[in-house]
Amino acid sequence: MSSTVFATLLDRIQSRRASVGVIGLGYVGLPLAVEFAHAGFDVTGFDVDAGKTTEINAGRSYIPDVPSAEVAAVVQAGRLKATTDMCLLAGMDAIDICVPTPLRKTKDPDLSYVIRAVEAVVATVKPGQLVILESTTYPGTTDEVVQPMLEAKGLRADVDFFLAFSPERVDPGNQRFTTKNIPKIVGGVGPSSTDAAAALYESSVERVVRVSSTRVAEMVKLLENTFRAVNIGLVNEIALMCHKMNINVWEVIDAAKTKPFGFMPFYPGPGLGGHCIPIDPFYLSWKARQSGFECRFIELAGQVNASMPAYVVERIAEALNTVKKPINGSRIHLIGVAYKRDVNDLRESPALDVIELLAKRGAALSYTDPFVPELNHGGHVMKSVELAAALESSPDCTVICTDHSVFDYAMIAAATTPVVDTRNALQQYDASNIFRL
Ligand SMILES: NC(=O)c1ccc[n+]([C@@H]2O[C@H](COP(=O)([O-])OP(=O)(O)OC[C@H]3O[C@@H](n4cnc5c(N)ncnc54)[C@H](O)[C@@H]3O)[C@@H](O)[C@H]2O)c1
Repeated sequence: MSSTVFATLLDRIQSRRASVGVIGLGYVGLPLAVEFAHAGFDVTGFDVDAGKTTEINAGRSYIPDVPSAEVAAVVQAGRLKATTDMCLLAGMDAIDICVPTPLRKTKDPDLSYVIRAVEAVVATVKPGQLVILESTTYPGTTDEVVQPMLEAKGLRADVDFFLAFSPERVDPGNQRFTTKNIPKIVGGVGPSSTDAAAALYESSVERVVRVSSTRVAEMVKLLENTFRAVNIGLVNEIALMCHKMNINVWEVIDAAKTKPFGFMPFYPGPGLGGHCIPIDPFYLSWKARQSGFECRFIELAGQVNASMPAYVVERIAEALNTVKKPINGSRIHLIGVAYKRDVNDLRESPALDVIELLAKRGAALSYTDPFVPELNHGGHVMKSVELAAALESSPDCTVICTDHSVFDYAMIAAATTPVVDTRNALQQYDASNIFRL
């Protein structure tokens, strides 16, 4: 059966007659589903969140990088629909799994979302289907966890059905590199699986890079994100060092990056955020520990990066001290709370830690973030305040946590009270009340 089912699948993919299912319609799944629809496939998005499927079917996007007009166009053209009905997976030729892979409180991998998604695929799996895992995870997940689940009904991977891992590398908020032009890594459990998955992505992204196994593909993603986490940890430590030595770390980095080889700039900040960089390296260290290997760089970078919110609070205390005020009772206004510039994602945002630490020390807090209209910290709901109104009320201290491009930095720099700038957003301004990280 194998060569026939493979040839049929390949033909359906290459002729765009394949129906493609995407499980998990979040920051990763929705852009991918829209890209497959653009390539000419009939795409069905599956999500457990009925709110999301309703929005998509109404032609509305809830992901800033995907304009509603693009969703509406593919929905109206009949190329994309969304559903919570997992039974419809039976009709899919190819299924991409893009569900969350968070950590448990103990910092161990939480594969429960992946397992639930794979259980749904297993319920209707049939010969000739291609299943691809995109969720970031530790090396071995595809062949140790997903493959046995899919084979439990007697079908053989790479023979009767096809299974691959292809890490998602999307960078929300990045206008230059998007799902379409970020090269896609693909590794199958065997050669036919790699070929089938590569054919699917070749239809819709500009470049596909094949690797020899699912484990290599899984490890590629973890190397990339660990590289970022460790380098951010290093530059955060250099920032702490430079402050002690009265050197402007931002000027150092700007000058160092003029070296045309062997250096890549990373920037300090209030801490790591988002669903990837603070989490993924711990997937790797957890798995490495199973093999008796301790990942020292990952642990150390984790410690340095996790200490940054407390360091920011110390710098706020120092800044307030210059005007003879304590944190307790001071009105402190945070500018930007999303985990990075120009996104609405609050997951793991260091601003939340800064808020919690300041609240514990008795600060009266407010914030401005046009991407995050409200946030909940410890059961306490805060609403974003318009920037001009917030500054007019002359807070005792303002803190730039996230440097969204929409902010009026001249207005922020005009403050006469202390401004703590964790992102060097006020690079062009020099005043004794501006305190840079
Ligand atoms: N956000 C990023 O920048 C990014 C970048 C690269 C890789 N990743 C990885 O991609 C994966 C997805 O991340 P995300 O940011 O898109 O997450 P997300 O939370 O934005 O989206 C995940 C979606 O999956 C849905 N879901 C959960 N369980 C489900 C199930 N059993 N069946 C169907 N739908 C289900 C959720 O309702 C949600 O809509 C993660 O492994 C993440 O590490 C994320």
